[in-house]
Amino acid sequence: MRIKPARRLRGRCHLPGDKSISHRAALIAALANGTSHISNFSTSQDCAATLSCLTALGVSIERQGNRIRVEGKGMRPFRAPASPLNCGNSGTTMRLLAGILAAQDFATILTGDDSLNRRPMKRIIEPLERMGARILSLDGHPPLQITGSKTLKPIRYELPVSSAQVKSCMLLAGLQAKGRTEIIERNGVTRDHTERMLQWFNAPIEFGSDSNKPEARSSAVIGPASLTARDVRVPGDFSAAAFFIAAAALLENSEIEIEGAGLNPTRTQFLDTLRALGTEIDISSEREESNEPVGVIRVNGSNLRENAEKDLSLTISGQLSTALIDELPLLAVVGSQLPSGLMIRDARELRFKETDRIAATAKNLKAMGAAVEEFDDGLRVVGAAHLKGATLETFGDHRIAMAFSVAALLAEGESEITGSECVSVSFPNFFEALESLVER
Ligand code: S3P
Repeated sequence: MRIKPARRLRGRCHLPGDKSISHRAALIAALANGTSHISNFSTSQDCAATLSCLTALGVSIERQGNRIRVEGKGMRPFRAPASPLNCGNSGTTMRLLAGILAAQDFATILTGDDSLNRRPMKRIIEPLERMGARILSLDGHPPLQITGSKTLKPIRYELPVSSAQVKSCMLLAGLQAKGRTEIIERNGVTRDHTERMLQWFNAPIEFGSDSNKPEARSSAVIGPASLTARDVRVPGDFSAAAFFIAAAALLENSEIEIEGAGLNPTRTQFLDTLRALGTEIDISSEREESNEPVGVIRVNGSNLRENAEKDLSLTISGQLSTALIDELPLLAVVGSQLPSGLMIRDARELRFKETDRIAATAKNLKAMGAAVEEFDDGLRVVGAAHLKGATLETFGDHRIAMAFSVAALLAEGESEITGSECVSVSFPNFFEALESLVER
């Protein structure tokens, strides 16, 4: 994909259904009793992988565009698949499905593409084995062979890494164990879509906090649970919106409106961060859809190179790095335009995403002429860089492709994004949607 610089962004845009929420809606509907209709289901390849795995496990699913119908038959309705289940590029598919398969009375092999097969799985293997599943892996990496147990033991588990995927895996396994499975997050909550979706399907779920550790949160499910089918409307994907929001924030005189965006507070830290930098962002028509907050986001762009306070030195670390996890490469692009640049720390997890996102971000920013220092757990971008058009590598990672498409709009001269088709992993129409907003 070749991208020319833009003057500003103008107009309204519609988002694909949220990827994280779509996975959960399909998986939880498959565990419920009865028929669930899901609308605005994500058009991503990742969510298609979840549907094809469920189909291979014997779940009846009908799809028409972004509407799907799932026939749930309760907690253990699945049949052993004839061949390994391919989760494609999707960590969420593999980790959440593993929680469900841990309680099935047969063995399943989960595999993925080269990127997924390099990602760490010990984080789910260890606690699922403690509950009684048996899991074989290639030194903690996929393919995984999961032999489930009908008699999973409930456990109380403190997450060693902040990860919504691991938390969700454990809650889904806990639904099928006898007793209370409690997951503790020491440093604040990661995205809570699983908890909200379980509530929506009437699952027995409880939340707790610890007065000695104000940051800590816990969620517990009581199994064996019985879920009731429900219709779900999936909100627009905030992480997809973030690319348009950033581009509009950085290009002076931009004005965009994004309809039906998910506004779950565990996902929207990016708005607060941009506001703190001086971007005008307005939220309206707030409402709840299927237990998730949704609304309209309006962004008015200004020149952050000049408007952000000169001595405002922005550091993202600790819980903020977790809250911004999927937006960090994009934030690094934003940081390159701030007078004092940007520092990101405590983000080592970025090295274990679809690609090593710290290395990929640093490499591309440098290719565009920005000065970047890389750390094991983050990076520092020197500000206000004059980005130049360049050949930018995606490393097969959708969020790197989209973050650097935004960078390309700010640059002097044309850029080329190689392997840009990987945007389909989360947002197949990304380039069309971006182009429809761009004014040159
Ligand atoms: C996701 C959780 C996050 C995020 C990923 C989607 C989810 O991963 O980066 O894009 O849907 O639960 P981790 O849980 O590994 O941090």
